[in-house]
Amino acid sequence: MLKDQFLKNGSSSPLYLNKVCFAWPDGSKALDDCSFCIPSPGLWMLVGKNGSGKSTLFRILNGMLKVDSGEILCTLKPFLMFQNPDQQLLLPTCSSDLMLSLPLDLTEQERRSCIEDALQKVGMGSMANRPIHTLSGGQKQRLALAGALVSGANLLLLDEPTALLDPTSQHAVLQIVKNLCSADNPITALWITHRLEELEYCDGAAIMESGRLGQWLSGQDLLNGLNSLAVR
Ligand SMILES: Nc1ncnc2c1ncn2[C@@H]1O[C@H](COP(=O)(O)OP(=O)(O)OP(=O)(O)O)[C@@H](O)[C@H]1O
Ligand SMILES: [Mg+2]
Repeated sequence: MLKDQFLKNGSSSPLYLNKVCFAWPDGSKALDDCSFCIPSPGLWMLVGKNGSGKSTLFRILNGMLKVDSGEILCTLKPFLMFQNPDQQLLLPTCSSDLMLSLPLDLTEQERRSCIEDALQKVGMGSMANRPIHTLSGGQKQRLALAGALVSGANLLLLDEPTALLDPTSQHAVLQIVKNLCSADNPITALWITHRLEELEYCDGAAIMESGRLGQWLSGQDLLNGLNSLAVR
């Protein structure tokens, strides 16, 4: 059924998982018959308790872990972004760090313009030569997003990207990702969050529980469901 949806939508349906299972070497199951289809590009949020398997799912989608069984069909190029940007910014300045993520076959001029374009898109157009250690946490996270853009990724896997940010930087990162997901040629973002106010930005949201993802709902419906559980 989900596979029909994926095949019917063709290139507009970016990701399909069928009964994906993954267990750690000690035998504990992190993904247990996990099945879902992302119906279209957009900003899709995942919520769920600690240990429910969200980050493991991202590591699988990024190719860092191999599934034990099940099927994954994906038409997109993934890029995994962590909670703490210091874990993925490696070189001394913004532009030198972005160079690392660029495709190898570009001319010098193309490299420069690709970097300028990505920095513009994340609101850091004037910061190409800024040392990374002088950036705020929010700027670092936006630079990590620029790294995703220059790499040509069109599936952003954002693992609690705003957990360390203040509300202003949180809003800025959310808005940039929302713009990328609703532009003319929209990309797809999967966004894990424990900050439920972020659900208002998404095109759909689902709950991860014991290694399985539930139905996609609107952010508001998912929030209402969680609130009604909380008052019982
Ligand atoms: N490297 C590992 N080796 C063994 N078990 C692991 C490893 N990494 C994660 N796990 C286990 O896999 C399960 C799922 O972890 P995961 O990190 O995917 O959860 P999560 O939903 O991202 O949680 P959180 O909201 O706390 O980030 C947990 O029981 C966790 O202890
Ligand atoms: Mg996690």
